[in-house]
Amino acid sequence: MCKTDKFVYHRKLWEMKVRLLGETKVEKLRNSFVSRSRMSLWMIRAVTVLLLWSCFVHLMALGEMWGPRLFKGWPSCFNQHDLSTVAADMRSLPAKIALPLKVRVYQNNGYLMVSCNGGLNQMRAAICDMVTVARFMNVTLVVPELDKTSFWNDPSEFKDIFDVDHFITSLRDEVRILKELPPRVKKRVELGMYHEMPPISWSNMSYYQNQILPLVKKHKVLHLNKTDSRLANNGLPLEVQKLRCRVNFNGLKFTPQIEELGRRVVSILREKGPFLVLHLRYEMDMLAFSGCSHGCNPEEEEELTRMRYAYPWWKEKVINSEVKRKEGLCPLTPEETALTLTALGIDRNVQLYIAAGEIYGGERRMKALTDAFPNVVRKETLLDSSDLDFCRNHSSQMAALDYLVAVESDMFVPTNDGNMARVVEGHRRFLGFKKTVQLNRKFLVKLIDEYTEGLLTWDVFSSMVKAFHSTRMGSPKRRLVIPNKPKEEDYFYANPQECLQLLDEPLRVI
Ligand SMILES: *[C@@H]1O[C@H](CO)[C@@H](O)[C@H](O)[C@H]1NC(C)=O
Ligand SMILES: *[C@@H]1O[C@H](CO)[C@@H](O)[C@H](O)[C@H]1NC(C)=O
Ligand SMILES: *[C@@H]1O[C@H](CO)[C@@H](O)[C@H](O)[C@H]1NC(C)=O
Ligand SMILES: *[C@@H]1O[C@H](CO)[C@@H](O)[C@H](O)[C@H]1NC(C)=O
Repeated sequence: MCKTDKFVYHRKLWEMKVRLLGETKVEKLRNSFVSRSRMSLWMIRAVTVLLLWSCFVHLMALGEMWGPRLFKGWPSCFNQHDLSTVAADMRSLPAKIALPLKVRVYQNNGYLMVSCNGGLNQMRAAICDMVTVARFMNVTLVVPELDKTSFWNDPSEFKDIFDVDHFITSLRDEVRILKELPPRVKKRVELGMYHEMPPISWSNMSYYQNQILPLVKKHKVLHLNKTDSRLANNGLPLEVQKLRCRVNFNGLKFTPQIEELGRRVVSILREKGPFLVLHLRYEMDMLAFSGCSHGCNPEEEEELTRMRYAYPWWKEKVINSEVKRKEGLCPLTPEETALTLTALGIDRNVQLYIAAGEIYGGERRMKALTDAFPNVVRKETLLDSSDLDFCRNHSSQMAALDYLVAVESDMFVPTNDGNMARVVEGHRRFLGFKKTVQLNRKFLVKLIDEYTEGLLTWDVFSSMVKAFHSTRMGSPKRRLVIPNKPKEEDYFYANPQECLQLLDEPLRVI
């Protein structure tokens, strides 16, 4: 979208949200006994909303003039301000006010317990799916159990990462969620009177209604012990897709402690200007698991191989790193990333926030990147060490912090297409198609090899990288649908198009 379109888009979105606030209020007024003092409180709020709106319009105008410029020498479409701060306001404002007063009343068909598997972002998407599944089966959901045995080995519970009371309250007009089973039902579970199973991956709602619901009814309590990708990307009713979004963008908030620290990091960064979040997934587990050792020395290669064989649940053991890299199946190395960002024309002085754990090979491998971009920062360099004490040994809480910064950034660049890359991309689309560069690794490594072998000049290399990615910036587009090949489709959470305000469609409110 070029400037004017984007402006129109934001304005429409804002008007829609203002309207939503209005409607929520009317409904609240209708549904509750309102005293005079509350009435005047609403008046004050209404005036506040109007004031905020006029501030917003002015901010928009300022943003157009003074927006941060991350790209040098790109056509104006790529230069525009991302309106991140405004988008942040738009996000937090309705989230605060939209707490439903009404509780959905339905005949409870049973209890659903779920154990999520994987890292933070895989579990995030799974939680959205499980809430949705519970809602459409009319069952009661118990707050999901998080994975404590995955590679990340984080003992955090749901309540240590997410605001559990907000989760329950914000969704109460859709589904009943309990922190734990009622005592009588808990007894049954302790006596082993429940059913346990992993649901089939990429299923549709008919599967849950026709296969799973009868099991819940029969056993009263059903435990789904695997949750990753259990709901299809496509072919689901609109109301199902919208509920998935509502859980993701409204029901799931991190704990106040994590949110506060995230805001702090973002404000430290903002004070100094625009910032790019680089999800540099160049961590030991990723390299060992994928077998990608391009640029590693022989000792490192050996270490990675040893680690891969040590983890029984990593099925693939014999891997040809170079073949895999050429197929585009390896995360970009720090060196490849430095070349790519430079070729894209990213300003050398931009703040480059590394959202990742420890980079394999440490400073030695980071050198190319820090040479090309002197302002490389990370949470550990921006915050006092003591600020991170509460989450240091909890990788999911650290990941949550990076998530918040990544969502807010002026530009987000992931170096592989894992769950964080995809879920953050989707969240940024929701916040107004904030720029996410979807690097094509197969294309890039081929070009990088040609450039480093001297077959391409820098200018040709750079213009090819720019041209190829000019349409891969997270702007509005349709999800790719491939019947019977869900893994090859675009992931629902990377582009939840049913919940996005596309220009050519009527306004939709989630
Ligand atoms: C869920 O409850 C609603 C409203 O009570 C009802 O219309 C719907 O048929 C129920 N669905 C199932 C699967 O029980
Ligand atoms: C899930 O439950 C089934 C049935 O009890 C069991 O066979 C399977 O190993 C469990 N899977 C996990 C990941 O716990
Ligand atoms: C749901 O999936 C089943 C296979 O599990 C398929 O037979 C059915 O046609 C699908 N239903 C819809 C509405 O897509
Ligand atoms: C984190 O774990 C390490 C070793 O596992 C320990 O030495 C350290 O004290 C822990 N830090 C905090 C803040 O709990």
